[in-house]
Amino acid sequence: MDIGILGSGMIGGAVGRLLVDAGHRVAVANSRGPASLAALVADLGPGARAASAAGAIAFGAPVVVLAIPFGRYQELPVAELAGKVVVDTTNYTPARDGRIAELVSGGTTSSELIAAFLPAARVVKSLNTLYFKTLLDRADRLAPSAERTALFVSGDDGEANALVASLVAEIGFAAVAAGSLREGDARQGTGSAVFNVPLTPAQVPREGW
Ligand SMILES: NC(=O)c1ccc[n+]([C@@H]2O[C@H](COP(=O)([O-])OP(=O)(O)OC[C@H]3O[C@@H](n4cnc5c(N)ncnc54)[C@H](OP(=O)(O)O)[C@@H]3O)[C@@H](O)[C@H]2O)c1
Repeated sequence: MDIGILGSGMIGGAVGRLLVDAGHRVAVANSRGPASLAALVADLGPGARAASAAGAIAFGAPVVVLAIPFGRYQELPVAELAGKVVVDTTNYTPARDGRIAELVSGGTTSSELIAAFLPAARVVKSLNTLYFKTLLDRADRLAPSAERTALFVSGDDGEANALVASLVAEIGFAAVAAGSLREGDARQGTGSAVFNVPLTPAQVPREGW
C-alpha cells in the first residue's frame, strides 16, 4: 500500500521503518519541507520518499499516518485529508501541547477533536501506546499473533478500523479493538493501563471495557 506519513520525528520515523519493512511504500513529510528529509528517506531505503505535507497526503491511498505533536492538529489541511483513513498516533501532552480545557475536563478526547477538525476524514487511533524504540524492538512479523505485542485500534468507522488493524498485523503486532474514538482514548490513551506497557493480547486488562 502507498501510505503518507505526516511527521518525521520519533514516531513518524519508526512507523515509516516498520511500514517499509513490511513491504509498503511511504511518503514522509514534516514541517520544514522535503529537502530536510534526505537522511531519513535514505535510511528507510527505496520504499520511502520525501514529500510536502500535501504530497504525502496525496500519496497515501487511502491511509495517512498522523505523527505530529497533537497540539498542532489545527495546521492539518482539512480538504486534502477528506476521505482518507487518518491513523492518529498522537497523545495529548499538556506540557507540550498547552492546556486544552475540554481535554482536561474529560468532555472530549484528543482523537475526537482531530475527527471534528477533519469531518470528512476517517480517523482511527492507533500506534500511539508504545515509546518509539519499544515499537521498533517489539515488532515481530514471524511470531504467532497471540505471542505478539498488542497495539490498539479505536475509531468510529468499522471499515477504517479493520484496515488499520490489518496494517498493525502486517508490521508485526497483534491488533486489539478498543472501541470508538471516545472509548479508545480512555483505553489506550495517556495514563491508561496499557500506555507504554508492552503486553500480549491475553495480558491486556479488560476490566471496565
Ligand atoms: N515519541 C514517541 O515515542 C511517541 C510514541 C507514541 C506516540 N507519540 C505521539 O506522536 C506524536 C509525535 O511525537 P514525536 O515524538 O514523534 O514528535 P517529534 O519527534 O517532535 O516529531 C514531530 C514531527 O512532526 C512534524 N510536524 C510538526 N508540525 C507539522 C505539520 N503541521 N505538518 C507536518 N509535519 C509536522 C515535525 O516536523 P519538523 O521536524 O520539520 O519540525 C516533526 O517531524 C505526538 O503527539 C506524540 O505524543 C510519540
